[in-house]
Amino acid sequence: LFTCWDVRHSEHIEQQLSEAGQILANGGIVAFPTETVYGLGADARNTHAVASVFTAKGRPSDNPLIVHISDRDQLSSLVSEVSDLEQTLINHFWPGPLTLVMPVRPDTVSPLVTAGLQTVAIRMPDHPVALALISASGCPLAAPSANRSGRPSPTTAAHVIEDLSAVINGVVDGGSAGIGVESTVIQVQDDNTIMILRPGGITEEQLSSFAPVTRDPALNDAATALIPRSPGMKYTHYAPQGSMTIVMGSQDNVVNQYIEQQIRQAQARGEKTGVLVFDENPLHLADTLGLSLGSRDHLEEAANRLYAALRTFDRVGITFIMSQGCEQHGVGVAVMNRLSKAAGGQIIHL
Ligand code: TXA
Ligand code: MG
Repeated sequence: LFTCWDVRHSEHIEQQLSEAGQILANGGIVAFPTETVYGLGADARNTHAVASVFTAKGRPSDNPLIVHISDRDQLSSLVSEVSDLEQTLINHFWPGPLTLVMPVRPDTVSPLVTAGLQTVAIRMPDHPVALALISASGCPLAAPSANRSGRPSPTTAAHVIEDLSAVINGVVDGGSAGIGVESTVIQVQDDNTIMILRPGGITEEQLSSFAPVTRDPALNDAATALIPRSPGMKYTHYAPQGSMTIVMGSQDNVVNQYIEQQIRQAQARGEKTGVLVFDENPLHLADTLGLSLGSRDHLEEAANRLYAALRTFDRVGITFIMSQGCEQHGVGVAVMNRLSKAAGGQIIHL
């Protein structure tokens, strides 16, 4: 039985969240909004509940989950040690889209959550509904993004329903997730440097005022032979069903000419075509679905629209997608990371 608790204009939020929280406390699995994307929650201590999350998503068991807490005090029961730098980052960025990978306290969370690693990833989401649901459940909630594995992450309850309504207990509908890409996953190294394992909502610029920042070398396209420290980064994630290519170049008209030529050739082969473009460099092509990533000067818009756009291409059966790329600063690093994954690494530099 699937329930949708719509808490957007509700006068019974407390009762709705206590119902959803009860299901979680009893080992059920419930999706909920966060400030990044929707998550699929389960009691992180309950192996049976966590196992049903992996099954519902079709997620490989070697890909560990993030544990979500609603109170900083829950942290000490989950990790064995918090360094000074970690504490500083927590004080500054929680609640918010920063996930810290820390040494796990033995026998606290289910081994399925950590995929057998000695570390656990933890974050405190900056969303009133997420925080209230975690409190209502009384559990730390293991919560991956609430999509079928390999599909774009969900930024609305409708996306969750599209992928998972047949296999989960319910979704709390709190409207659109804000940021639109997932949290930044980091690990503090040698107590003094921050390594980014997955770029996301908190930018390198923001982190670098606290300590030197490095990127997991496996994140660079050129180094694809390396094994990423964040196991999830090795999968072709977030992928639309159609094939996708990103086109980069300093001259807008050259980029668009190339895209146009590729779209024509694809149409001649019988492909159903789509393009993903920035407002500064619009492109209108016949018989091609054009979607906007917003302005290049506000890459938050691209973060916010990206996954919904990929789902739209799928919904109308687009088989061939060309996308413009963006500069890698601020949240643009996360946007390019997700675009590149959606494209299976196919990037053309003109
Ligand atoms: O914004 C987010 O982080 C969303 C919302 C729902 O909170 N959650 C999310 O979860 O994106 P998921 O499962 O889709 O991605 C978790 C990422 C994966 O890349 C996983 O490999 C990494 O975090 N991760 C989890 N535990 C880890 C660990 N112990 N060491 C390294 N990476 C870890
Ligand atoms: Mg995910």
